[in-house]
Amino acid sequence: MSTATDRPQAASDAPRGEPLLRASDLVAGYLPGVNILNGCDLDVYPGELIGIIGPNGAGKSTLLKALFGLVTVRSGTVTLGGEDITNKRADTLVHRGVGFVPQNNNVFPSLTIEENLQMGSFQAPRTFGERFDAVVDLFPTLGDRRKQRAGSLSGGERQMVAMARALMMNPSVLLLDEPSAGLSPVRQDETFIRTRKINKTGVSIIMVEQNARRCLQICDRGYVLDQGKNAYTAKGRELMNDPKVIELYLGTLAADQEAEKSASQPPPTA
Ligand SMILES: Nc1ncnc2c1ncn2[C@@H]1O[C@H](COP(=O)(O)OP(=O)(O)OP(=O)(O)O)[C@@H](O)[C@H]1O
Ligand SMILES: [Mg+2]
Repeated sequence: MSTATDRPQAASDAPRGEPLLRASDLVAGYLPGVNILNGCDLDVYPGELIGIIGPNGAGKSTLLKALFGLVTVRSGTVTLGGEDITNKRADTLVHRGVGFVPQNNNVFPSLTIEENLQMGSFQAPRTFGERFDAVVDLFPTLGDRRKQRAGSLSGGERQMVAMARALMMNPSVLLLDEPSAGLSPVRQDETFIRTRKINKTGVSIIMVEQNARRCLQICDRGYVLDQGKNAYTAKGRELMNDPKVIELYLGTLAADQEAEKSASQPPPTA
């Protein structure tokens, strides 16, 4: 496992070869003189599912926004397929194969499902039919209910529309900000399964999650972000079982595991 003192690209558990997306030493923020990211590194190799976890306010959403050109990168670089894309505009990035599903307000509520997906392919309208078929293959419900307004859907269904919309441009890498937030446990689980399913089609994914336990279970590698810096990087399951990570970041996970352990033990005999 690598810690803040190592660069993640030096991590022994990172795949070999060239990363698809690499962020190096990113410094970014919103207000003059206040940096939220303080030298973040991130590598995504082709086909990987990357999880990013960390406390509230750690800068997870800011990191995704910096990758997607929505927050100015003050220093450091972002490359995609080896090419510098630092501070490129979001629409340029979409065109180059980066998809982004923000944490909130990620559908057009007054538009139907089909119209939301059309918005997703507005840069390449001729591909709409082909891409619509491809995303409906992944999310059959959306095809059945294509004429329904997104505003009338449940939280889980809206999340599905938001992901499908981002997939309309056939991205090579998809950035997901807390896809399971606000959903019931069953719907959360469906979201994680769906995320893995999208990943299996060959789309690399960076997923920020509050549900750290579930996220680390399904991701290939995970990053723990703290105060705008990398705190730990390792395979998802290694992070899940690392006592330091449990102590510092997965308190609820530790409590869950304790509860599971005691439940599986035979009751004390009198
Ligand atoms: N638009 C903004 N303008 C000024 N400060 C902001 C803005 N958005 C976020 N911040 C600040 O940046 C810091 C990091 O926020 P960010 O949303 O990246 O955290 P996060 O790790 O995603 O947290 P959460 O788990 O709560 O979603 C916070 O202190 C927040 O107040
Ligand atoms: Mg956030």
